[in-house]
Amino acid sequence: MVTTAWRPRGRAASAAPLFAPLVGRHPWAGAAGGPASSVVHPASPQAGQIALLWWIAVGISAVVYVLVVAAFFIAIARHRAQEGPPAGADPRAERRATRIVIGAAVATVVILAAWFGLSVASARALERPPAHPVRVEVIGHQWWWELHYAGASPSDAVTSANELHVPVGIPVQLQLASADVIHSFWVPSLDGKRDLIPGTRTTTWFRVDRPGVYRGQCAELCGLEHAHMALLVIAEPKAQFDQWLATQRAPAVPPADPVTWRGQAIFLGAACSLCHTIRGTGAGALSAPDLTHLASRRTIAAGALPNAPGTLGAWIADPHAFKRGTIMPATRLDGGAMQALVAYLRSLR
Ligand code: CUA
Repeated sequence: MVTTAWRPRGRAASAAPLFAPLVGRHPWAGAAGGPASSVVHPASPQAGQIALLWWIAVGISAVVYVLVVAAFFIAIARHRAQEGPPAGADPRAERRATRIVIGAAVATVVILAAWFGLSVASARALERPPAHPVRVEVIGHQWWWELHYAGASPSDAVTSANELHVPVGIPVQLQLASADVIHSFWVPSLDGKRDLIPGTRTTTWFRVDRPGVYRGQCAELCGLEHAHMALLVIAEPKAQFDQWLATQRAPAVPPADPVTWRGQAIFLGAACSLCHTIRGTGAGALSAPDLTHLASRRTIAAGALPNAPGTLGAWIADPHAFKRGTIMPATRLDGGAMQALVAYLRSLR
């Protein structure tokens, strides 16, 4: 099933994503699975801290704006009320004006200092490393997210892409790196932005308190497809998360019928296996998303398309129609071969 979500066009298309983090629902969410994410709807204590700071800033700014506009109109009204040419300077009025200007300057300094103090306190609270977190390594690529969950042994490690599963109520510490240029990890409902920088490691953490699916977005201009570098955070109860992790640890299910056997042979024979990994097969390349459990994901192409047979086939046949900058080449196959390949990929639960 292909989702036919409303997509903004023209001016609305260029402006809509700017406002999305505030209005809570991304206008393109339909294509990526429909979750909401918003700085004013925090789902973690970390995002709560940022939201509080945001509301304080909005409140102070609103009060200052109203006072300045009111002073402006009062000045106009007084000026109009004065008849004839301006009289000579009135020493009392001069003194009052001086007091008002000094008072406004002092109030500005006090407000800015308090604001700065709150901001520093919030940043310190967000930096404090959590105890016993779930650790996930996140590597930014042009234009997708690689995710690694370490295991007790190397064979227990899990590699996935674009969908970060986390347990509810347990801190999650992300170790961020980049394979190419600077990206930025941002899930408005869960935490602040954190850059992924080539050659170094950064960390961030959050604890999700409400189960749900939260949309994130690369927040650093990283090339042609920056806007199509989304990710989903799927927060679920611990038992469900553990089950997901156990499923992801297993190698790919082998083909179960002639069509999926044919699909696997096409995958291994075509260019696919030069970039992708499917554990349990001969495909072990690391320059593109791991497809071992592709069918368990909600979206493909880093949130650009819903994960469904039609979109998967269309993406394989002509990825540049959806993401012009992607390095994935088009794969020309006849109808039967494409159906077999899609059936095989859809079997990778
Ligand atoms: Cu990655 Cu913008």
